[in-house]
Amino acid sequence: MTEFVPVNEPLLDGNERDYVSECLNTGWISSEGPFVKQFEEQLAKKVERNFAVAVSNGSAALDAAVTALNIGPGDEVILPTFTIISCAAAVVRAGATPVLVDSDALTWNMDVNQVATKITPRTKAIMVVHIYGLPVDMDPILRLAEEYGLRVIEDAAEVIGQKYKGRPCGTFGDISTFSFYSNKHVTTGEGGMIVTDDEAVAAKCRSLRNLCFQAGKRFVHADLGWNLRLSNVQAAMGLAQLERLDQHVARKRRMGSRYMELLKGTPGLQLPLTQTDYAENIYWVYGVVVHEDVVFDARQAMEMLEKRNIGSRPFFWPMHKQPVFRKMGLFTSESHPIAEHLAHRGFYIPSGLALSDAQIEQTAEALKEIMS
Ligand SMILES: Cc1ncc(COP(=O)(O)O)c(C=O)c1O
Repeated sequence: MTEFVPVNEPLLDGNERDYVSECLNTGWISSEGPFVKQFEEQLAKKVERNFAVAVSNGSAALDAAVTALNIGPGDEVILPTFTIISCAAAVVRAGATPVLVDSDALTWNMDVNQVATKITPRTKAIMVVHIYGLPVDMDPILRLAEEYGLRVIEDAAEVIGQKYKGRPCGTFGDISTFSFYSNKHVTTGEGGMIVTDDEAVAAKCRSLRNLCFQAGKRFVHADLGWNLRLSNVQAAMGLAQLERLDQHVARKRRMGSRYMELLKGTPGLQLPLTQTDYAENIYWVYGVVVHEDVVFDARQAMEMLEKRNIGSRPFFWPMHKQPVFRKMGLFTSESHPIAEHLAHRGFYIPSGLALSDAQIEQTAEALKEIMS
């Protein structure tokens, strides 16, 4: 029997050990250490933003982003239904109302044509989320934001190193956010980053990250924040990973192309787009969608893969179908057919940076076998 192919394994073959050892040797293990600042500075430079604020994860980054833009009760935020719960949760926790749009059937990103139809006098922001490796078509979003005076929050958690029309993802939001969970192109195990060009917004995010402590009156608080600090040890790893970002993205593209070659023409299977007219896929994860007329769905396909020693993960479950939001009375009569189709029929196959050519071939073989 062949060995199990995990859905994700990170690649830690740069300066990670040296930098982490430095933390241990010097005793700088909390968020006070020098790597946090270096990681923030280098990341800001790499994604061409003025300010970066390291935080504990990508979900926390979204919470802080929504709060830093003063979004709250009475405000509406337009976002895709097909995303991770962190996006809608940040809006709901801030007391604002999430307004959902369906997905595009080919890119799996938010359907930008639906955004204009959702704008009301209460709309305060559009939260764009780049899904699985292709960016959202940003030009129409930016035009709407300009026309209606809306803020843009850009969730770039999955696409560090990706570009839209040659401009880095992470440069399009009033605030943009990243995640460094272990399956990302830059990982700190757990971690995140907020980037912006607005100094006051960056200062607010720094304050929110650190319990809104006040200089001079440390334990007197005028606002409520969180402890969202990233440790020096995590930042050390992040800095080493960031040094390798270009190689990581190139590697992901090679892996995606290899899957494409092997899976092209597989009956009943929709593959990701290799490119659009504004970007080339970086295959953060390699997703596939089982056609509607195939007798089994994603869950059953994943079980068949598991039996063949191949790991996989389901696609996102849409926000309008989440029991937690239904309980709150949100989205009760909504339907978003493309997102529902993706949720029932889509899943992703092993896509981690440490995946070998042999594992890609083993995975493609197993997938073709179950589709035949
Ligand atoms: C689009 C998107 N946003 C936010 C997050 C949350 O990031 P984290 O897991 O670091 O909290 C993720 C996680 O993968 C994600 O895919």
